[in-house]
Amino acid sequence: MTEDNTRLITVGRQAEDLDFEGLRPKTFKNFIGQQKLIDNLLIHIDAAKARGEQLEHILFYGPPGLGKTTLANIVANEMGVNFKITSGPAIERPGDLAAILTNLKPNDVLFIDEIHRLNRVVEEVLYPAMEDFALDIIIGKGPSARSIRLDLPKFTLIGATTRAGQISSPLRDRFGLLNRLEFYNPADIKQIILHAAQLLKIEIDSSGADEISKRSRGTPRIANRLLRRVRDFAQVKCAGIIDQATAIKALAGLDIDEMGLDTVDRKLLTTIIKNFSGGPVGVETLAASIHEEAITIEDVYEPYLLQIGYMERTPRGRVATPAAYAHVGIKLPKTKDSNQAVLFG
Ligand SMILES: Nc1ncnc2c1ncn2[C@@H]1O[C@H](COP(=O)(O)OP(=O)(O)OP(=O)(O)O)[C@@H](O)[C@H]1O
Ligand SMILES: [Mg+2]
Repeated sequence: MTEDNTRLITVGRQAEDLDFEGLRPKTFKNFIGQQKLIDNLLIHIDAAKARGEQLEHILFYGPPGLGKTTLANIVANEMGVNFKITSGPAIERPGDLAAILTNLKPNDVLFIDEIHRLNRVVEEVLYPAMEDFALDIIIGKGPSARSIRLDLPKFTLIGATTRAGQISSPLRDRFGLLNRLEFYNPADIKQIILHAAQLLKIEIDSSGADEISKRSRGTPRIANRLLRRVRDFAQVKCAGIIDQATAIKALAGLDIDEMGLDTVDRKLLTTIIKNFSGGPVGVETLAASIHEEAITIEDVYEPYLLQIGYMERTPRGRVATPAAYAHVGIKLPKTKDSNQAVLFG
């Protein structure tokens, strides 16, 4: 991810998040939210366990910080098997993957993060491994070269990606369970905050948790990060307990508004509105105007703005919605009004 890691609401992983690793739920019981996905997973886990077989291959996809890695971990825990972790860019050659695969034990979970970044040759090794639990190896060179097939233990591959669209269809088709993670609702985020506060021995009341939850963009990673920042503020400036007033003051100081948007989000919206008459504007053009990379806009900023209805994606580019105009305090032009009434109904 190429986003600016100094941003507070950045959804990418930062060093400080490591403090929170202890907060990662280890069982489904402690995992809050994503109920439909979990119910579905549990059925397959119970069935696989009852048969004494490996679980089907699983793909988790969705915006960063929603719990893909956490869930992969929990699946292995609940299956009672080993959890091996690697990532797309870390597997450079087919031999690297072969070494990982031949070291697996039956039913183990192999987790490949950022699986959309696997290179083609490595991917080709993965196909028979996923489908037939076999590894095709070429021995020798030239005319005497021959291919032998090695049997692998039956394992479960769990892939995670923020960019499902970039996964080739042969790879996607080999996953039995495709799971999209959704943004969390505020009530779930509040529970996550209260739970984290308890573990970290942070004093917070219900109104304080509500306030942080509202501004966490439906993302547990951001919720945990904001909680920590607000705690620091409360410790230094207030009596230590986080209530609504403390949370509001702390978050305002960090330039995070009541929708969880920071200066860059607002710049994105005002740029569409002021420089491009509300859009549509292509993502590359938009990226250049605000000095960000297009991929960062697509992965990090845009999913949440789409989710809350501040932005629309049209075939001709990005459009700011009337709600976005209202949020940044710019009056919707008359002409837009009628146009957009059609667009946004
Ligand atoms: N349902 C949840 N309940 C409580 N905490 C959660 C939940 N989901 C995620 N978290 C917390 O949020 C943080 C981010 O989760 P995780 O690393 O699993 O996200 P991810 O989807 O893998 O992100 P990325 O795409 O960046 O790899 C973790 O530290 C974890 O503790
Ligand atoms: Mg992850």
